[in-house]
Amino acid sequence: MSVLIRGGTVVTADETYRADVLCQDGKIAAIGDNIEAPPDARIVDAGGQYVMPGGIDPHTHMQLPFMGTVASEDFYTGTSAGLAGGTTMIIDFVIPAPKEPLMEAYHKWRGWAEKAVSDYSFHVAVTWWDESVHEDMGVLVRDYGVNSFKHFMAYKNAIMADDEVLVNSFQRAMELGAMPTVHAENGELVYQLQKQVLSQGITGPEGHPLSRPPVVEGEAANRAIQIANVMNVPLYVVHVSCKESLDAITRARSNGQRVYGECLAGHLVIDDSVYRHKDFKFAAGHVMSPPFRSREHQDALWRGLQGGNLQTTATDHCCFCADQKAAGKDDFTKIPNGTAGIEDRMAVIWDAGVNTGKLTPNEFVAVTSTNTARIFNIYPQKGAIKVGADADLVVWDPEGSRTISAETHHQNIDFNIFEGRTVKGIPSHTISRGKVVWADGELTVERGAGRYINRQPYAADFEALARSKEYNAPQAVKRG
Ligand code: URP
Ligand code: ZN
Ligand code: ZN
Repeated sequence: MSVLIRGGTVVTADETYRADVLCQDGKIAAIGDNIEAPPDARIVDAGGQYVMPGGIDPHTHMQLPFMGTVASEDFYTGTSAGLAGGTTMIIDFVIPAPKEPLMEAYHKWRGWAEKAVSDYSFHVAVTWWDESVHEDMGVLVRDYGVNSFKHFMAYKNAIMADDEVLVNSFQRAMELGAMPTVHAENGELVYQLQKQVLSQGITGPEGHPLSRPPVVEGEAANRAIQIANVMNVPLYVVHVSCKESLDAITRARSNGQRVYGECLAGHLVIDDSVYRHKDFKFAAGHVMSPPFRSREHQDALWRGLQGGNLQTTATDHCCFCADQKAAGKDDFTKIPNGTAGIEDRMAVIWDAGVNTGKLTPNEFVAVTSTNTARIFNIYPQKGAIKVGADADLVVWDPEGSRTISAETHHQNIDFNIFEGRTVKGIPSHTISRGKVVWADGELTVERGAGRYINRQPYAADFEALARSKEYNAPQAVKRG
């Protein structure tokens, strides 16, 4: 079965041009003018619309066991919702419990993901350290297509990685040609501030941002960046939410360090007033870490994207329903941290970014798809419109609009942080591996159709970094 997308304007990270796109056997088979339709082809009329690489969300947590519960969205419902929103691939996280062998956790997550309807890959978290972790990181890179390792600098007494873990793991990542990534918040400070805020009698969700101020994030981002600098390894900072961590990234990049930053659709458009809402369900529904910030931080994030110091956008899609959030009714530190967004990221960023002139359509493609593919080494299989690339595409209707609501979304959660927001610019069709899976409001997905995407290590980049270290290597003083 083939699909011919006819009459659209192709928009990639680099180019904009009129062309038809033919998809065959899951790949892009031809791009050009007036392509003749094969006899079996389904025709998608893209007149007046843009044809773009499908979105890649580099940060999701489907069915994550976390804070005493399990995220309500699984790999089937979550990737379905992604396709409805124009996202054709996710990179989720394997998160071993402390002392859990990495390979055991990895196989567990691979099993859970078998029901995915779109393609997926995994970062693997390093939550503890010993020789077996060192060994398993090598096995994952060599034999299982993993090229990124995540470190949570927060969540003390749970999955937090201290400096010893960071240094060992970054060093190992460097040897393997893999990218360390960090959730940057100083976990000890968060822990102490939570106690302080509670002792002041603040037990509601308004305590959440008070216990995680921007400086706590900035400190951790800067520390991770300096550790990466000493270890001579690149670094990817997830969910950058504030000026302090963006400044640390910008400074490092201007000093020649290879540091990348991701920001979330939610952090770009939602501010911290949500935590002071009278309704617990509403305020707790927004509890995620790092928290939503004030407007000045949102403005800084947009400038980070525009200036190229932030390269990717994600959602940190991690769903907890109202009954799960209720665990923290009398103590905000017990509210499961996480919010949804996989279905809405593309439309929210188009509406708030392209419609306002902050981003061009090409920049939109870069920050929602291509840059992630490049950074995590799956370009041009993903993130590109090229002959031979995977046929993961979105046909984008810039005139279409939708009012976001938990009543109508496909995400398996009873709350939507973008509730009531009307977005202009929506996917009319999503094509996943050459199949039309979303067409004018109808999802047609196949359980298990998603494939695991292997990601190769970064040989060339890492060799260059290693050479730069050799070049600067200190010399022992010869005596006697
Ligand atoms: O609040 C969040 N972000 N929950 C998911 C885990 C994480 O920190 O990414
Ligand atoms: Zn995080
Ligand atoms: Zn996360």
